[in-house]
This record gives sequence, C-alpha cells and structure tokens, in this order.
Amino acid sequence: MPYSGFAVGAALRLADGRIIQGANIENASYGLTNCAERTAMFTALVANGEAGERPRIAEIAVVADAPEPVSPCGACRQVLAEFCPPETPVVLANLQGDVLRTTVGSLLPGAFGAKQMVYTRMKEADV
Ligand code: THU
Repeated sequence: MPYSGFAVGAALRLADGRIIQGANIENASYGLTNCAERTAMFTALVANGEAGERPRIAEIAVVADAPEPVSPCGACRQVLAEFCPPETPVVLANLQGDVLRTTVGSLLPGAFGAKQMVYTRMKEADV
C-alpha cells in the first residue's frame, strides 16, 4: 500500500479448512488498485486446484488499522456475492479489536448475479 498507506488484510476460510490470505495491492495508476478482499478471493479461485470447481468459502475476515471495522468497497461486495452464498459470515475488524459481524448477503442486498442474465441468454439462444 505505498500510495494510501492504508494496509488491509483479508482471509478466507475454505470449507476444507485452508486459509487463503489477501492484501491490498496498489498501483501508480490508482484506479487499478486491487483490494484485499478481491486479492484473497481471486487467490482462492486459483488455489482451489480442481479445475472448474469453485472453492467453498466458509468464512471471510477483513482487518485494517482503522477507527472502525473496515467496510468492503462496492466492487468487493459484488465479487464476494458472485462466489459466496449470501449466508456466508463476514467478520470485519480493526486493530483495536472492534468487530462487526455480517454476511455477504447483508453487505449487498439484491446483488446482480447470473440469475438476472438467464432471460437474456435464453433470448439469444432462440435467435
Ligand atoms: N481497501 C481494501 O483493500 N479493502 C477495503 O475493504 C477498503 C479499501 C484498500 C484499497 C486501497 O489500497 C486502500 O484500502 C485505500 O482505499
């Protein structure tokens, strides 16, 4: 985090017990920064091993040195919603020990997902 100085760590506990870590990776072209949550999620997808199988995420934790438990950005909420069931627990914390417990579904109610695209795909298949 050379530009913001704001270090964020994320950890995903997979159903098989593995812990996958992530950190925010910044870029001189600021908008290309990848948040800790997405780094962890994408690492889990690669680390999963079985081709074509998605990792089963049992729990997500995000920690930063911030006045309040860190709040995942909108892009990360959308990515988590893509790969985790809505009931997946999310633990948000800071270094003072403040902890906020929520879920993927509560972080992004009404998330856009593959279900919304079925109609479009069916229409395309008809033509
Ligand atoms: N950041 C994360 O990694 N996760 C969050 O939940 C919030 C923001 C990062 C992105 C950037 O590197 C820095 O924090 C400041 O926005």
